[in-house]
Amino acid sequence: MLVLGIDVGGTGIKANIVDTDTGQMAGEKFKVKTPAPSTPDAIIECLREIVNNFNWQGKKIGIGFPAVIKNGVSLTASNISPLFINYPINEAFSKALNSEVVVVNDADSAGIAEMTYGKGKGVRGLVIFITLGTGIGSALFYNGQLLANTELGHLKYKKSVFEKYASNYAREYHHLSWKKWAKELDVYLNHLNLLLSPDLILIGGGVSKNFDLYKDFLDVPVKVENASLFNDAGIIGAAMAARN
Ligand code: BGC
Repeated sequence: MLVLGIDVGGTGIKANIVDTDTGQMAGEKFKVKTPAPSTPDAIIECLREIVNNFNWQGKKIGIGFPAVIKNGVSLTASNISPLFINYPINEAFSKALNSEVVVVNDADSAGIAEMTYGKGKGVRGLVIFITLGTGIGSALFYNGQLLANTELGHLKYKKSVFEKYASNYAREYHHLSWKKWAKELDVYLNHLNLLLSPDLILIGGGVSKNFDLYKDFLDVPVKVENASLFNDAGIIGAAMAARN
């Protein structure tokens, strides 16, 4: 089945048509910058541009969004406008785009794709999937079953939370070398390991493709790998979430 998958991030919005039976992208990837401020109206404008680009009106759309999403309502907003707190996101986006829109947390959607078509495929036990982008998102899978909306990037650390120190944005913002940044990431991964004793940690998001530049600085007593779908997992998983 073909579904339009859209990955809304704190910095960019990426979209493509996805064949949800194979996990393959069926069109040409389209990107727009996340507007600032990223209000619902401004985001809807971007989504309209995407829908027009693919000429997708009236058909199913899946969206990965950087917030806790419960029962079609966005509840939090760390790297997106606070107007999204308690916002009826499924209904509002469906109306605005004249389509059936399903919105899920962006890390959950990327994790779903990675567990189905990537390195998480068939892995039993506990897999922690994290995305390192503007923030840190997390998705937990036990025997392949998702525990949604975990928000492990918001565990307390130093004066704030881990995503302020170990996200890719933090690396860029503070001009950290891969080694320096990886030290923070290493503390984070060890903390996750201590709390949850996972069988595998998968690193997704933009920096998953740069894994070779920092993997040797990580010293975690559990298998840590980069996601094989790289940054496309968000688009593919968003489409998969809307399939049913
Ligand atoms: C948000 C999460 C999101 C993550 C990655 C965090 O700031 O709270 O919901 O998954 O960023 O975008």
